[in-house]
Amino acid sequence: MIKESNTPEFWESIYTSKDQYVYGKEPSKFLVEYVDLLKKGTALDLGMGEGRNAIYLASQGFAVTGIDHSPTAVARAKKLAANSGVTLECKEASLDFFLIPLMKYDTILLSDFHPQPVLMKNLVRGLTVGGTLMIEAYTKEHLKIKQDPPYIFDCFDSNEALHLAQGLKILQYSEREIYGEHRVQLIGVKTTMAS
Ligand SMILES: C[S@@+](CC[C@H](N)C(=O)[O-])C[C@H]1O[C@@H](n2cnc3c(N)ncnc32)[C@H](O)[C@@H]1O
Repeated sequence: MIKESNTPEFWESIYTSKDQYVYGKEPSKFLVEYVDLLKKGTALDLGMGEGRNAIYLASQGFAVTGIDHSPTAVARAKKLAANSGVTLECKEASLDFFLIPLMKYDTILLSDFHPQPVLMKNLVRGLTVGGTLMIEAYTKEHLKIKQDPPYIFDCFDSNEALHLAQGLKILQYSEREIYGEHRVQLIGVKTTMAS
């Protein structure tokens, strides 16, 4: 087993260690509960994994692009999209130096994906006016409950998601224990071009 660090090799080893979908085929409960708050249109799922959330968004009428650096995860996402009868644009690429296009996406989703600082800083600029950002992730608090998974590099510090969403109007925010896990859940909307 490769030592835990946020590399494509590490994630490949996670995905290839199982024949099954590691994160399952069902979308996040948070996403399903609040999908109506998200701005319909173009959606970007960063660190898409095997596509469970991207495919759900596509089934709800979003035009979704999913990006992930694990070839196995991307192949599984393509297969799940085909089996689900939805169209999904899948990109196998590293997000480490990804420069998000200015005001391109109506919704950006981060589900259990903790971006590098440059991407963090630029996420909001990728949203259209009225566009929504959804974040769901483990917090570092969760590591007191369970340590593997999640991985330390995927966990958010307290209030980190709020910093990331600076300039957005916050529609939903919590950091709490839910489903036996300590999670941060955020939805923010971009109300002006200036943010
Ligand atoms: C914990 S999994 C979550 C997958 C998916 N978002 C979900 O909720 O099922 C994190 C994903 O982020 C991807 N990832 C992590 N760092 C990445 C990077 N720098 N560039 C592209 N993908 C990355 C991994 O390959 C992995 O599929």
